Amino acid sequence: MEQSQMLICQISDLHVRAPGELAYRLVDTAAFVRRCVSHILAQRRLPDAVVVTGDLADRGQPAEYEHLASLLTPLSMPVYLIAGNHDQRDCLRAAFPGHEYLPRGTTFLQYVASVGPIRLVALDTVVPMHHPPFVTGVSHMDRVGLQLAYPLEPIIRRHPSIERILCGHLHRTIFRRVGGTIAATCPSPAHQVVLDFMPEAPPQFAMEPPGYLLHRWNEAEGMTSYGVAIGEFEGPYPFYDRGKLIE
Ligand SMILES: [Fe+2]
Ligand SMILES: [Fe+2]
Repeated sequence: MEQSQMLICQISDLHVRAPGELAYRLVDTAAFVRRCVSHILAQRRLPDAVVVTGDLADRGQPAEYEHLASLLTPLSMPVYLIAGNHDQRDCLRAAFPGHEYLPRGTTFLQYVASVGPIRLVALDTVVPMHHPPFVTGVSHMDRVGLQLAYPLEPIIRRHPSIERILCGHLHRTIFRRVGGTIAATCPSPAHQVVLDFMPEAPPQFAMEPPGYLLHRWNEAEGMTSYGVAIGEFEGPYPFYDRGKLIE
């Protein structure tokens, strides 16, 4: 892949607890993050940057961010952190002093960063915006969804160079058009939110396959996004044997 191709890895909703603790008394989120980091580093083409779209820690505690920092240390490429509704901004900032893009002395953790020719605009809101700016159809998540103080869609529409609105919070992959661009939520490397379109959908998670998103960009094609499942799977197997399709 030539240098003009950029690859951004999006991971989301890590919900890291202090060492030895489980999320929701069940999920060893740190072990899942470790697996996710190894999986990213095993890619034949390493991402140029990793963007983490919120819920970095589960309860926003200093020990959780310290744990997270150690789990993310193996990532050799720049890592950009975005706060989610489980995060405490000051504790997050304190645990990542080397992350100079994080603003100091501000309420919101918002910033602009460059990944090669790609401009990354990180938005933080009162209900911290790793939330998608659209109705997802999962009722218990929509009830705690994003409350916009002003309409986002016309602002997005005025900037057709926006390739994606990358969000977390839903712990699964969802796409929707927002202001003419593609808004996407990302799976978690740990637990996923149950997909249930019923109005009385109970707040539940399930251990569906964990994953992340890869966003590949080049000047000619723009951005193309890929879902990646984390795990050990059989294969790869060839389609062809000595030039002939295996039937
Ligand atoms: Fe989350
Ligand atoms: Fe969240």
